[in-house]
Amino acid sequence: MRLSIYAFLCVTCFGGALASAETGVASPDGLDGLVKVEQLPVPDDPLLAKGRDVWGGTCQNCHGGNKYTGAPKITSTKAWNARIDQGMDVLVDHALNGFVGPKYMEMPARGGNESLTDEQVKLAVAFMVWVSGGVDPALDFLAQLPQ
Ligand code: HEC
Repeated sequence: MRLSIYAFLCVTCFGGALASAETGVASPDGLDGLVKVEQLPVPDDPLLAKGRDVWGGTCQNCHGGNKYTGAPKITSTKAWNARIDQGMDVLVDHALNGFVGPKYMEMPARGGNESLTDEQVKLAVAFMVWVSGGVDPALDFLAQLPQ
């Protein structure tokens, strides 16, 4: 009992401390050119750091700013604000199951990489949101994932 309360407090204070930290890369247009994972900050949070690895392995191919794919560019708040407003549950659902946007551009399920687990996809979404202006929603989402 005592232990679980401490675990909860710890998650809360950890999340709070990170939420006040700037990622330093989000701006309306995002970073210039095609964004590679090496240009993105390495988060202190180990779950976000895992998400960064997954992002570099699969999601970067389109979300690095490849205009032909129609994928919202990582670090661009212009591309991400309205999407983040939909809530993390919608974003995660679209990333896991795929969806076709209003301009008939397709987000393939799991970014087309069927070997990714649900957790890996969720962490990649959290990382992408975190560096694209959505620090708080990303951290809130991670805090409520089963430990
Ligand atoms: C083949 C290209 C491609 C790859 C690879 C890809 N995406 Fe996407 N993704 C898209 C496109 C295109 C959209 C935007 C669709 C639209 O709204 O028109 C999108 C949109 C999204 C969205 C926003 C969903 C929404 O509701 O607005 C999320 C979240 C997302 N992708 C997560 C991921 C993650 C996580 C990965 C890696 C595991 C990934 N994507 C890999 C093409 C891709």
